[in-house]
Amino acid sequence: MMLNFTYNLRSLTLRTTMAAAAVALVGIFGQPTAASAQELDIEKIFFCPAGDMSEDACLAARDTTLITCTACHVFTPFVKAQKTEAEWDTFLDAHRQRVQETSDADYAEIGKFLKSHFNPENPVPQLPPELENYSLPPA
Ligand code: HEC
Repeated sequence: MMLNFTYNLRSLTLRTTMAAAAVALVGIFGQPTAASAQELDIEKIFFCPAGDMSEDACLAARDTTLITCTACHVFTPFVKAQKTEAEWDTFLDAHRQRVQETSDADYAEIGKFLKSHFNPENPVPQLPPELENYSLPPA
């Protein structure tokens, strides 16, 4: 679950966030099995650089996406999506109201990140059962 960041301060913040998320997952699902821990390779799913984003821009967008887009549900629905750019645009227009505190600039970076990772050209990541069997909150 450890991510690499250029700046120590950001690294510390995100490590804390990820650690909190891991603790929360354990709290919800019980002790993770060794197998499921091995299956989840964050660096592989959220790889950088990607598309026409530089490595730094990609890492920043990854940070923003993970923090913004896991406030209400796990990341499963978007990492499993293989949307075209047009499909992501339609989705992003509809979901904009969910993240009203996010700036337009940040939302655009999230869009670039999603399009360059979760599209028909890239394989669908396999996730541990706890994340595969997710459920979405009611609309
Ligand atoms: C304020 C809560 C909230 C936040 C924050 C949020 N979502 Fe959602 N999301 C929902 C709810 C509720 C649903 C299920 C109902 C629906 O489809 O709108 C959902 C469903 C989804 C789906 C499946 C439905 C579809 O149309 O494909 C995807 C993918 C998704 N969200 C991605 C994201 C991404 C990417 C972000 C970050 C930009 C995000 N979510 C942030 C509440 C949220």
